[in-house]
Amino acid sequence: MNRGARVLVVGQGAREHALAWALSRSPHVAQVFVAPGNAGTIKEPNVLNIPLAPDQVDAIARYSREQHIDLVVIGPEAPLVGGLVDRLDQQGTAAVGPTQSLARLEGSKIYCKRFCEAHDIPTAAARIHTDLHSALQDIANHDGPLVIKASGLCGGKGVVVAQTRSEAEGAAHVLFSLPATREGLIIETCIQGWETSYIVLAHGTTYRAWPAAQDHKRLLAGDRGPNTGGMGALSPSPRMTPALEARICKSIIEPTLAALEQAQTPYRGFLYAGIMVDKQGDPYLLEFNCRLGDPEAQVLIFRLESDLYEILDAGARGHLDAHTPHWIRDPALAVVLASSGYPGPGPAGEPISGLEATEGPFVKVFHAGTRLGPTGPLTDGGRVLSITATGTTIDRARQRAYASIEQIAFVGMQYRKDIGLAGIS
Ligand code: GLY
Repeated sequence: MNRGARVLVVGQGAREHALAWALSRSPHVAQVFVAPGNAGTIKEPNVLNIPLAPDQVDAIARYSREQHIDLVVIGPEAPLVGGLVDRLDQQGTAAVGPTQSLARLEGSKIYCKRFCEAHDIPTAAARIHTDLHSALQDIANHDGPLVIKASGLCGGKGVVVAQTRSEAEGAAHVLFSLPATREGLIIETCIQGWETSYIVLAHGTTYRAWPAAQDHKRLLAGDRGPNTGGMGALSPSPRMTPALEARICKSIIEPTLAALEQAQTPYRGFLYAGIMVDKQGDPYLLEFNCRLGDPEAQVLIFRLESDLYEILDAGARGHLDAHTPHWIRDPALAVVLASSGYPGPGPAGEPISGLEATEGPFVKVFHAGTRLGPTGPLTDGGRVLSITATGTTIDRARQRAYASIEQIAFVGMQYRKDIGLAGIS
């Protein structure tokens, strides 16, 4: 590393803003590029937005080669499933993320379920259906709540927790009409308990665990309403214990990395286990993602004390042993401000006001669905901003985040008012 590194972040959400922000602060990094970024990334020093969409994998690989990019950090799942890392490998560009065949763990829930069954990874009992008729028969034969999941990528919106038979039937009808259900649908037993996101950065069977985080997947306060990509996050996860972490690593993370290494090339990048801890305290895998979570990334990166570039570069090149990442003790919390209509389609192009007054050493606004208009940032649909704050307690972090939100306005703004509340004791 004689000259400063040139790093390309792929994606346009608040997770990618957080990655670009932290990378741009590293003394090892000369320039961060974001493809395509948003109105927040464009304002960070040493960060440049590139007009390439995350699924333009050939164009991103070519850009990386022509611009002598040293490290590509891939935020969302689509470019991983689309084979971006395979193309970067072919040309010798280092990348944080698994190859296409390994990214099937996230890209196909049916593949993931079969993988868990083959390798004794604890997960909910499930049946796989490739047609609506057999799914409806299955629903008719089971009482109690069921979880209905499209197999393919659905932006966090392909999972329905159905409390009643008619909800389950409705979900099967809707999901079978989506392209993400081309390969089929999974119906699984609903495990009751509490959820946590457990994310590790891995290279082969070597990994570094990041602190557990708590997502808030439902749209509305009190965990009501439809599933979304995530309406808020909290880290550390208040109910996580060292003993439970050890169990998650031993029964889920380690056997997974070992099985992947035997079967194919070593896994490289983030492995995010969505975990349900049941009433007996036993952890079960709900799903794997092959990337950082969003909004989990915002709280994890805001708490990170160590140099993110050193950590990611070590993950990409297989030197994870040489770096022990450190996080501040204080908890962090992120509240997502979304457009009206989210998680469905909604309006865009609304001016956002009040951002100037909000930031300080304990509060950071990460942009997601924003673009720069002639007079300032405009909404661009979906999740718009992640207001991220730390404090000596969760309550203090909450007060800071919500005090900042009072300054911010755009037409149709919706957010949950209870982020982190379940974690305050
Ligand atoms: N927060 C859920 C996800 O990133 O998939």
